[in-house]
Amino acid sequence: MGEIPSHPAKMTLSLAGHNKDDRERRLAQIRQSLGARSIVLIGLMGAGKTAVGRRLAAWLDLPFTDADSEIEEAAGQTVTEIFAEHGETYFRDGERKVIARLLDGGPQVLATGGGAYMNPKTRAAIKARGISIWLKADLRVLLKRVARRDHRPLLAVGDPEAVMKKLMAERDPIYAEADITVESRDVPHDVIVGAVVDALVDALGLPTRSATTAGPRRKKVQ
Ligand code: S3P
Repeated sequence: MGEIPSHPAKMTLSLAGHNKDDRERRLAQIRQSLGARSIVLIGLMGAGKTAVGRRLAAWLDLPFTDADSEIEEAAGQTVTEIFAEHGETYFRDGERKVIARLLDGGPQVLATGGGAYMNPKTRAAIKARGISIWLKADLRVLLKRVARRDHRPLLAVGDPEAVMKKLMAERDPIYAEADITVESRDVPHDVIVGAVVDALVDALGLPTRSATTAGPRRKKVQ
C-alpha cells in the first residue's frame, strides 16, 4: 500500500499534471516568495472567499484568517448585530481597523468581507502588505451561493438579485484593481484553489515547471 498523501484533494486539481515533487516545489516557492505578505481574497458575497481561502491555506500550509470572524470576535457581536445596533458606517470603520491589524500577521491567507476592498485605506494596506486575488463570479453563481445562508445584512433588505446587481456595478471596477483575478465558477472549490495556485505562480514570476524547462518570466507582482 502506498503512503497516505499529506494533501488529500491535490491530485484532482489543476496541478495534477505536475508530479508530486513539482507540486510541492511550486507551493514551497509561493510560500517563500510571499515573505511576510498575505494572500488577500476579495470579491462579492458568495464568491467563495472563505471556502476557497481555507483550502488554499491548507495547501500552502499557511494560517487562514477570516476578517468577518475577527471583526465579530473583536466586537463581541455578529456582523448582523453590528449592522442592526450600530449601522454600516460603524461596521466599516471596525472592518478597516481589524484588517489593518490582520495584515501585520502575514504570511497568511486572509478572506475579507465583500465591502472591505472598497475602502481606499484598506486597498492601500492590502497593496502594501499583501497580494490581492479577486474571486470573480457571475450573478447566477453568487445568488445560488448566498441563497443557502441568511447572515448577510445587505441582502436581508430588498430583492437579493437587485442588490447584488447594484453591488456588482459599483464594486467590480474596484475589485478589478486586484493583483490577480480568478473566475470562481460553479465547480468544486478545490478546482478554484488549483486555479489560484496557478495564477500565483504566474503573478509571482515563479518558474512554471522545473527550472531547466521554465519559459520566460512573466510580469511580476511588485
Ligand atoms: C458585506 C459582505 C459580508 C460582510 C458584511 C458586508 C459586503 O462578507 O462583511 O455582511 O458589503 O459585501 P462576505 O463577503 O464574506 O459575505
